[in-house]
Amino acid sequence: MSAIPIPRRRGRIRAALILGTRPEAIKLAPVLRAMSASPFFEPAVISTGQHREMLDQMLQRLQMDSSRDLAVMRERQQLSGLTARLISGLGEAVRADAPDVVVVQGDTTTALMGALAAFYEGVPVAHVEAGLRTGVIGNPFPEELNRRLVAPMVRWHFAPTEGSAANLRGEGVEPGQIQVTGNTVIDNLLWVLGRREGRAAFTTSHRRVLVTLHRRENQGDTMQGIAKALGELAARPDVEIVLPLHKSPAVRDALLPVLDGNPRVRLVEPLDYFDFAATLDASDLVLTDSGGVQEEAPTLGKPVLVLRTTTERPEAVDAGVALLVGTEPGEIVTAATRLLDDRVAYERMATAVNPFGDGRAAERIVRRLALDLAGRTESGEGDLAVA
Ligand code: UD1
Ligand code: UDP
Repeated sequence: MSAIPIPRRRGRIRAALILGTRPEAIKLAPVLRAMSASPFFEPAVISTGQHREMLDQMLQRLQMDSSRDLAVMRERQQLSGLTARLISGLGEAVRADAPDVVVVQGDTTTALMGALAAFYEGVPVAHVEAGLRTGVIGNPFPEELNRRLVAPMVRWHFAPTEGSAANLRGEGVEPGQIQVTGNTVIDNLLWVLGRREGRAAFTTSHRRVLVTLHRRENQGDTMQGIAKALGELAARPDVEIVLPLHKSPAVRDALLPVLDGNPRVRLVEPLDYFDFAATLDASDLVLTDSGGVQEEAPTLGKPVLVLRTTTERPEAVDAGVALLVGTEPGEIVTAATRLLDDRVAYERMATAVNPFGDGRAAERIVRRLALDLAGRTESGEGDLAVA
């Protein structure tokens, strides 16, 4: 695969950070902070508004201003309509702003259409969190397809781990275009915890179980089955479950009929990132189908039961802090009960490890872009390369 040429430039590098959902805001916030602090960059955030309340909550709390908001979200949006609104709006935005580089994150439809809009306009693309793969095209849906489609349009693949870099090399991406950086979510988690502004959502000193659920492939009967498993766990008098509800009506349709009114299940609105990080830090056990939460929990030594049949983040499972338990209610109850009752099994998993990064991913990303686009870094490295 040949590299897309990069124009070298003298003035500030105009970087457009395209984002639309909660995790993209969380994971691009450290990149925006690093670019804003650098003399070489003039960053701007293009928000697609693929999410509304959940995105706005993060943008406000993390003090990220967007220069554009495409407001594409519709209630219960279908993928095809969302895709059409995104490519149309992003095409116009990238054409009008003419940035030197477009930065996209992860595997959402916003990320895929951001890369495509940039590619159509001849703007080089930097992909943050590149190279994650389950190897199963339909799972997670549609993210595995999205990230595979993003890859050929990308100039800089910022892979969070050696494993994700190896996936890209295996697909024929030139090694010089791949850099292992760690995941920017760890940068943000450490930054947010260091500020000590968050409040945990647990209200008792029972065994504290934090749950998040949202994946499309789990919605419907599967998610309702998971809700029943949570109800069974909450029947234990020593357990308190906190479940911040995703805004998706499909998620609420599955969970509320089973769990609403259960006194040991606290269903709360989405927590801002400071409060979520504090809640995660205060938890004993995490049950989730989220990608980001799988990455954050190991740093804090919180055992994670991954409520999915596949994962693109095998590092946490390999490190022994996560278990891929699937979505069968019986299996979920058995795995959670074991960890709650068997101290040895619990302690074996509750080990803080950092397979996803050391909190300096954004710094590496910004340094590499400065070197390639301006021929310089703050330490002066590569100064002579400016034409
Ligand atoms: C999207 C991403 C998924 C990511 C997840 C993070 C795609 C296809 N999916 O999934 O990869 O893991 O975000 O949470 O890109 N809604 C609101 N308010 C909000 C957010 C959502 O009302 O702030 C509702 C809307 O009815 C919307 C629905 O949730 O139609 C689904 O949102 P959507 O972005 O399509 O999918 P997610 O499941 O959130
Ligand atoms: N998160 C949050 N508040 C919540 C639930 C999650 O701030 O109430 C954060 C969480 O810390 C993680 C990110 O949102 O960084 C994960 O988002 P989500 O699960 O929606 O998406 P995914 O990571 O699966 O793409």
